[in-house]
Amino acid sequence: MGQINLSISTKLIDDIAIVDIHNAPVNALSKDVRIGLMEAISQSIKNPEVNAILLSSQLSIFSAGADISEFSSGDLTPVLPDVLHLIESSSKPVVALVNGGAFGGGLELALACHYRVSFTSARVGLPEVHLGILPGAGGTQRLPRLVGAKIALDMIVSGRPNAADSLEGLFDLVIEHSEDAMTEVAAFVQSIKNEPIPRVSDIPLSMDDALEQLFNDYADNIKKRSRGFFAPLKCIEAVKHGYTSSFDDGLNAEKALFMQCMQTPQARAQQYFFFAERSASHIIGLPKDTSTRVIASVGVIGAGTMGGGIAMNFANVGIPVTLLEQRQDALDKGLALIRKNYENSAKKGKLTAEQVEHRMSLLEGSTDYDSLSDVDLVIEAVFEKLDVKQAVFKQLDKVCKQGAILATNTSTLDINLIAQATDRPSDVIGLHFFSPANVMKLLEVVRADETSNDVIATAMKLAKTIKKVGVIVKVCFGFVGNRMIEVYAREANRLLLEGATPEQVDKVIFDYGFPMGPFTMGDMAGLDIGYFVRESRREFIAHDPSYCIVADQLVEQGRVGLKVGKGAYLYEQGSRKPVPDPEVIRIAEQKAKELGITRRPSDEISEQEIIERCIYPLVNEGAEILAEGIAQRASDIDVIYVYGYGYPVYRGGPMQYADEIGLSHILQRLQHYQETLGEYGKAWFTPSEMLVQLVKDSKTFASIDKE
Ligand code: CAA
Repeated sequence: MGQINLSISTKLIDDIAIVDIHNAPVNALSKDVRIGLMEAISQSIKNPEVNAILLSSQLSIFSAGADISEFSSGDLTPVLPDVLHLIESSSKPVVALVNGGAFGGGLELALACHYRVSFTSARVGLPEVHLGILPGAGGTQRLPRLVGAKIALDMIVSGRPNAADSLEGLFDLVIEHSEDAMTEVAAFVQSIKNEPIPRVSDIPLSMDDALEQLFNDYADNIKKRSRGFFAPLKCIEAVKHGYTSSFDDGLNAEKALFMQCMQTPQARAQQYFFFAERSASHIIGLPKDTSTRVIASVGVIGAGTMGGGIAMNFANVGIPVTLLEQRQDALDKGLALIRKNYENSAKKGKLTAEQVEHRMSLLEGSTDYDSLSDVDLVIEAVFEKLDVKQAVFKQLDKVCKQGAILATNTSTLDINLIAQATDRPSDVIGLHFFSPANVMKLLEVVRADETSNDVIATAMKLAKTIKKVGVIVKVCFGFVGNRMIEVYAREANRLLLEGATPEQVDKVIFDYGFPMGPFTMGDMAGLDIGYFVRESRREFIAHDPSYCIVADQLVEQGRVGLKVGKGAYLYEQGSRKPVPDPEVIRIAEQKAKELGITRRPSDEISEQEIIERCIYPLVNEGAEILAEGIAQRASDIDVIYVYGYGYPVYRGGPMQYADEIGLSHILQRLQHYQETLGEYGKAWFTPSEMLVQLVKDSKTFASIDKE
């Protein structure tokens, strides 16, 4: 007994061998852990003084499962299933003490033990599906044997964690994490040490008609809900195998399906994205010990859809908000809209009536700037015009206490100019929420030239508090997200002039994996929004008379989208379903004629061309953004695109997608359009120098992120 290696130690208490895992920060089951577990279990089995084995953790988490960073490395021996086989076949009973989270291989480790004890606070799950794979260490075979097919499918296919005490059949004992907890655990181990050893793999499973129906219905439902994803259906297949074959055959089927998933671009993309999301919180050059300011109260200026949505984020986590509007009627309308949103959530069973009232009680309306004198953070969400925002910040500078953070939700404007309206530019930052602000996970945190480190650190911490993913960016037109979306919208619109239809472009983009195509999205957001943005920068786009000209025309005709029943599509009264409108094609034909643009029959514009024209410029703009240092890393751009714009996570984001299909291919196709689209191609398809250089050096975006 003693230290087996850096990650595993053992000690003998009475006749129980305690095997402790210690592999900070999350007890990932890295090679060292697997070797150590093999060794510790084998020694305990051989040791005549040991009558039972307790597997526990020295951290507050039991285990986050396989070490994801090892997936791309070659030598994985001993593999986790072998470790689990040793445990399950042990002649001495093995008890898992699930003291905290047990995820993926961590839960599978507990499932291979003969008994499972957990604390009520523990959460458990099989989140592999989020990594584009399925549980590959027996999870799809053992879990259904304990909790039944339905709950096992729910856990494996959704990847969502559950409270340990909500899962009947999984644990033999669930106890409070009190001072006496370990005494209770020891008593439990003593009580089972002489009992015949129960093994999950011995529990029989068999198929019947009702189960067959369950599997079929489940698969039909998932095809719709997880459109485009490969792994969820494979998860269902693996669980189903358990009901039609022996345990060992089920394990073999699981292994084969696991390997099939692992080799897909989706698995690479989703595993990449796991780390991308986590690196986004690391700010290059910001000392780890940077202090943060306390944010115990917030002011939000503007009670429109955006301001209201922003305010809800804080009320949702118990932070009181003062919501400021110019006029009482606008304020009342804003508060009523928030209440309606909460009540809708209550109707869906997501909130109780008390929670609705509690959240509303945290929102106080005001029409007086002085009511912001004591808040720790103010976020303005007023009209997107520089002079309007500067006037707001002048006012804030007068009324807000020293040390308050002054934030703007601008989506395009120069925050340095906004900061200059105050005498405290180091307290000014951009907090760019995405609509609907209470739903979308992304928060672009925009550091201006003078924003202080503690303000940046506070904003990033706050993002976590309100359950957003914060990504730091620097100031430029549209920052990262909206700067890139401009090129995507531009190309979609140009394709209309060249002969494509809105529904054709939308279908290709939808099939690529976005929740909707650019024209449906534009109609939903309101075409007037893009129009106002273009109005603010006509001098920069004037060289291209075709620039979003159909969209401009639609807005000028009052067709601003869904809210008025017509935009790029028509909408029947009360319906959100886009209906193609020949009038839009007529506008495109007329504008193309005026501009001398040759149109092609729509069926001559291929799906591939639509993807290349809409997505590759995103990659090119992303490379420019990186070269300018606006984003810290390529993976941050991907996080922005997945969480802010619905880019399919199974493609990893535009930059990972480019790495996957090859940067030289992207470069070649950009050059192709540069040459074949005349003046337009020359204006917009010039490859970024960074992209050219990466191709020359045979590098990828991921490789420069690692440098
Ligand atoms: N492997 C490698 N590193 C991991 C990891 C894992 N399974 N889980 C977390 N980490 C790392 C993170 O990258 C992060 O590193 P940095 O600090 O360097 O960024 C660090 O651990 C802390 O993670 P979080 O920031 O996510 O911490 P948290 O407290 O917010 O969340 C967690 C903890 C809930 C465990 C979360 O990290 C998580 O969900 N981890 C992944 C769980 C998972 O997917 N497990 C399945 C693995 S695949 C598998 O097990 C296959 C199989 O069948 C054998």
